[in-house]
Amino acid sequence: MENARRHFLRTISGVAALPAIGSVLTREPRTGLGAASSTDVRGQFPLLRDSMNGRPLVYLDSAATTQRPRAVLDTLDTFYLHENANPSTSLHALARHSASLYDEARATVARFLNARGSGEIVFTRGATEAINLVASSWGGVNLGRRDEILITVSDHYSSLVPWQLAVRRTGATLRIWDVSDDGHLRLARLDTLLSKRTKMVTFPHVSNVLGAINPAKEICERVHRAGAVVLVDAAQSVPHFSVDVREIGCDFLTLSGHKMCGPMGIGALWARRELLDAMPPFQAGSNMVHEVELESAPTRFAEGALKFEAGTPNVARAVGLAAAVRFLESLGRKELWRREQEMTEYALASLSKIKRPRILGPTKASERISVFSFVVENGKPLDVAALLDRLGVAVRAGDLASLPALKRFGVTAAVRASC
Ligand SMILES: Cc1ncc(COP(=O)(O)O)c(C=O)c1O
Repeated sequence: MENARRHFLRTISGVAALPAIGSVLTREPRTGLGAASSTDVRGQFPLLRDSMNGRPLVYLDSAATTQRPRAVLDTLDTFYLHENANPSTSLHALARHSASLYDEARATVARFLNARGSGEIVFTRGATEAINLVASSWGGVNLGRRDEILITVSDHYSSLVPWQLAVRRTGATLRIWDVSDDGHLRLARLDTLLSKRTKMVTFPHVSNVLGAINPAKEICERVHRAGAVVLVDAAQSVPHFSVDVREIGCDFLTLSGHKMCGPMGIGALWARRELLDAMPPFQAGSNMVHEVELESAPTRFAEGALKFEAGTPNVARAVGLAAAVRFLESLGRKELWRREQEMTEYALASLSKIKRPRILGPTKASERISVFSFVVENGKPLDVAALLDRLGVAVRAGDLASLPALKRFGVTAAVRASC
């Protein structure tokens, strides 16, 4: 691979979309450990210094999972080295500290999304569990045989299959919303798909295959006018630009920690508090209920988000997610997005000069994030990924957990390079 191209790939693979050096890293990690120099932004991601197959690593698989900056790794270490305890507000000092860290993490995520309060943030294992929670709990009491759920052809399996199973349980019907040839949801068709029967609409804020940014606010307004409830799968948008639940006006929004520089196995559901209060528990166990008697199942549960967090919470990962939020904010979200747009423009222009790959999704940088799924004429996606792997370039290939989206563009597999 030519040097210039490798340099370009290495730049976009790490923390390319970063503000001008200097505004970065003014904030010390919580522990004060491991801060890289302000001129070494990429150096904050220890794993990006590694090599793969004997070549310097070019990591272009961030849509699958991002790497973690030192600030997040240190936070996790500190938790287990000095702060670990099963949280409790009424026991020993360590337990109280753990409880306050968990509360702070919830407050941080609430602020990050501009929620009305911490009680609207339910910690989950990831975006998948958050969507399952809604499909099971909300779906269980709100869906019936005459109802319809509108999903999209560009949904990730994690926001498609929970609704397929909900339909099986409740007898409701699934309707499918298509995308245009440039990968955007067909807004012109929305009103004809919505009817009095529509109870739930769910769509990806940004498609993990097409990279297209969907106009969430407008969609939510139109869904509400039709009297339905709307869930925004923000797993691929939150890592890239600011997402404000009040501005969007949705009812549910889900995010994934490991796609935004946080730990794996943590995510969050944001929900309007009235909806959460009206929903039955998702799972049952300790912490979501107190003073349980043998003879009768409880009918009173913990308030707000806590009703949905049965068992010992994953405090370390919640605290790690909050560290990831602080990390992203310390980079300056607007500046981060501006730099990403520059990278996207550059990548689209560079890729368009090469004849063979066909890029799926919008061709304008302003309409997409830096996730590039492509197919290569006469090249099987898995072979392309294997070849790049040998060159030290990590990309994803296959059905990208979104076969319907790929089929919409006439393929069953693609290569995806994501920054
Ligand atoms: C758009 C989208 N939604 C949901 C998910 C699932 O997220 P998680 O891994 O946190 O369960 C993904 C993961 O790839 C995704 O890209």
